[in-house]
Amino acid sequence: MPVSPSAVRLIDHLDRDHLRRALENDVRTGLTATPKHLPPKWFYDARGSDLFTRITRLPEYYPTRRELAILREQAGDIAARAAADTLVELGSGTSEKTVLLLDALTAKGLTTYTPVDVDASTLTSAAHRLTARYPALTVQPVRADFEHHLAALPRQGRRMIAFLGGTIGNLVPADRTRFLTTLRATMTRGDTFLLGADLVKDTTRLIAAYDDAAGVTAEFNRNVLHVVNRELGADFVPEDFEHVALYDEHDDWIEMRLRATRDMRVTVRALGLTVPFAAGEETLTEISAKFRLPGLRAELTAAGFTVDHAYTDPGGDFTLVLARA
Ligand code: SAH
Ligand code: AVI
Repeated sequence: MPVSPSAVRLIDHLDRDHLRRALENDVRTGLTATPKHLPPKWFYDARGSDLFTRITRLPEYYPTRRELAILREQAGDIAARAAADTLVELGSGTSEKTVLLLDALTAKGLTTYTPVDVDASTLTSAAHRLTARYPALTVQPVRADFEHHLAALPRQGRRMIAFLGGTIGNLVPADRTRFLTTLRATMTRGDTFLLGADLVKDTTRLIAAYDDAAGVTAEFNRNVLHVVNRELGADFVPEDFEHVALYDEHDDWIEMRLRATRDMRVTVRALGLTVPFAAGEETLTEISAKFRLPGLRAELTAAGFTVDHAYTDPGGDFTLVLARA
């Protein structure tokens, strides 16, 4: 039976005022700093989420395929170990890969799925799709920021918290530590944490994954400028910024930057701010950390988790770690 759109009700921790204040704050702080920076969560409006979905299908972008391969092999084992009745997924996006987990977890008694994301449009359409696919499952989407609202997420039942795709790598180390510690504090005995993380590998492959030949990642990177233009009345000309992807071997992370191709002054009307850019100046828009298994285990342990099992794909490109509270 078709599911009416009203069957899914979004719990919203990010009203327009909250989002607006957070964006204003990030843009003012980031564009008046030296070097300039903008946080990656502002990539994801409806267009940014679509561009990310296109990235996941690119030949160069291996993480999604590798994580899917692990889930295809191991979802049954993960579900048996977790025995969760509630799945909360952070940064769920389209929830495409989640279907493999949901198939396995519902067979073991899962009753509720709570996708959590900042992008309402992607979240709502995923929730409708999954409600239709799993009629016996309660799908309760929550719009929230996983850096601020972990304590406000539903706590009932034996929960599995999933954080897939390697999104943990988009947090700088101090924020990552705070995230893991805060998450652990919201969890109770019996809850599990399923964490997807990209692993250190050959630099050429890494850079290609973030600088694809078709230019989709470049467009995704520039999308943050479209978002600032629309939301804060800025006058960025996105085409005047070049996409840069490099690998920092010291920190083991990819950096995405936007390089100004000429001298310019950009006005952000809502902030009463004029920002000078020199030709060649770069603004950091994302880090994407790559992990080594011992280091990742140590970070989880330091945050109070017990690692139950670490799964990797046959090539050792990506890992899914199941940890217990
Ligand atoms: N989990 C999916 C999507 C990864 S893309 C996958 O593995 O393919 C990262 C997702 O996290 C996007 O949907 C984005 O909107 C969301 N996101 C980014 N920062 C966020 C934040 N601070 N709080 C909640 N969601 C966030
Ligand atoms: C969402 N996140 C894990 C992606 C990544 O690989 O760091 C975002 C992305 N940035 C560029 N391509 C994909």
